[in-house]
Amino acid sequence: MKTELRIVFQPSGRTVHVLAGTKIFEAAARAGLLLQNPCGGKGTCGKCRVRIVKGACEPTEACRKLLGDEKTRDGYRLACQAAITEECVVEVPFASLYDSRTQILTSAEGKCLGGKPAVWKKYVELPPPTTHDALADLKRLERVIGRFHVNLNIMHDLPVTLRQDNFTGTAVVCASQLLAFERGNTEADCYAVAFDLGTTTVVGALLDLAQGREIAVAATMNPQISYGDDVISRITRAREDAHNVAKLQRAVVQTFNDLISDLVTQTGIDRHHIYEVAVAGNTTMQHFFCGINPSALGEVPFPPAYVRALLLDAREVALDLHPNAKLYVFPNIGGFVGGDTVAGVLANSLLDAKQPTLFIDIGTNGEIVLANRGKLSAASTAAGPAFEGARITAGMRATTGAIEKIVVENGDIACNVIGNAPPVGLCGTALIDVAAELLRLGVIDTTGRVVAPDELPATTPDAIRARIHDHNGQMDFLIAAASESGTGEPVYLCQRDVRELQLATGAIRAGANIMLRKAGLAPEDLHEVLLAGAFGNFIRRRNARRIGLLPALPTEKIRFVGNAACMGAKVVLLSAEQRDVAEKIAETTEHVDLSLAPDFQEEFSMAMLFPESE
Ligand code: FES
Repeated sequence: MKTELRIVFQPSGRTVHVLAGTKIFEAAARAGLLLQNPCGGKGTCGKCRVRIVKGACEPTEACRKLLGDEKTRDGYRLACQAAITEECVVEVPFASLYDSRTQILTSAEGKCLGGKPAVWKKYVELPPPTTHDALADLKRLERVIGRFHVNLNIMHDLPVTLRQDNFTGTAVVCASQLLAFERGNTEADCYAVAFDLGTTTVVGALLDLAQGREIAVAATMNPQISYGDDVISRITRAREDAHNVAKLQRAVVQTFNDLISDLVTQTGIDRHHIYEVAVAGNTTMQHFFCGINPSALGEVPFPPAYVRALLLDAREVALDLHPNAKLYVFPNIGGFVGGDTVAGVLANSLLDAKQPTLFIDIGTNGEIVLANRGKLSAASTAAGPAFEGARITAGMRATTGAIEKIVVENGDIACNVIGNAPPVGLCGTALIDVAAELLRLGVIDTTGRVVAPDELPATTPDAIRARIHDHNGQMDFLIAAASESGTGEPVYLCQRDVRELQLATGAIRAGANIMLRKAGLAPEDLHEVLLAGAFGNFIRRRNARRIGLLPALPTEKIRFVGNAACMGAKVVLLSAEQRDVAEKIAETTEHVDLSLAPDFQEEFSMAMLFPESE
């Protein structure tokens, strides 16, 4: 294992360990900070600028050209260009972050997409009733904040609360409904949580609605994995026994409550100041979360129970927040193309895309959206959980001890391990890296077979050759020896892991090929490929292209957009008006059912083969 360099990002304080030569952009992504990259990392837009405040990092020619001498002397660098050579502290300006508020609420041209959060607060000082002004309490409040609906719970408390502080207090409103009337001025304490509900992972982002920004993030595995690691096996459980729907719902709701506790602990806020939650997940996950039986999704023609967005009371699903908090569940497009896709399309303004754009959200279900001449079409492919570490012999999530990057240098492999710890397993990015590197070396052939050492070209470095071990006639590739690993067990890329990778890659590539062909487009007609997914922004594009996961396009045409589902959920919390856009996306996007496409099986078998060359 090679020594890694410690990089601290400020003001978040997030710290990562990376190999020398890693671009700052990639290190920031590893730290969970997605930087803006409208030029696709070509070094021409200047949006990814950061500042080195401690340590050194050589500026490149592109840094000097774009930033000028003075800024370069001040430590400014283009994160997509400058490579890390020693330990340093990097300051990330707010404007360089991809998911800053301006990025969420404004288009690329700076045009405001408009709107304000559905939840808002107003501190009021009402005139107390007199013999000349005997207006009812509710009317008295409406006179200041406008008309609203109210439930009986609030009516029980309102007259008392108003009189405790001489008719002053803070009204909390969501979509014309009074959620609470609080003592004192609590305008600054107004929060919501955006959730990306994935088949394998769940991510929650706490938003400060008063400031319009994200203040904490937490993530964990989806506990429903114990019922099956893909949506079909979970639907099967629901079909076998309807009681399983409630069990799966309870499991995921508990996870939401745990993540909310984590967010509350991180920030020190009061969970009763969280007034709304938005959830973006695939159709099956959203059904389970709401306790809706998804059995119909298990047979042709796969109809969901609902497509329009649901606005519910959070207590209906037992979320532990403010007792009157609201729950927004994204609209679905149809079949397995659900709210997470709508959220991703919304976050990336694909309705307005002027040129052919392909959006790929890589997860256990790979969602693919093609925007072409104002029309959207979308499909879902069962990629399987390989990219999230499941079904891979030494697979694991991108957490401490996971090898996240593998490169070949000086005739052997070098690994980067998260947390600078001894390696325990491989996460999805390293899986792609090692497969791509071994394809380049000829250790894996285009059919996906790991070849025996005596079949390798004479030029193969000895260290690489020595890593191929014969296990009962199957060749496995040793990544970390037992003596180096954190478990005392060796870490291998096994032959069957390569097969899992081929299944995942083939499903996504076949889906993309069919959608392009339907639209009369070739891959080279694409203006841009947007790569989404909680793990999408860590992928090395060149390696993803080498294994055929991405079309053979120049890397600058492949742009990371981070966790687009979570971003879309943030958008609808920060701008209520964007909910109409989400509804329009769900209504107008053509759902392409790949399982009914006559050419899918043939396309899938072809796409299982790795490309011949770069
Ligand atoms: S200069 Fe455009 S992403 Fe770095």
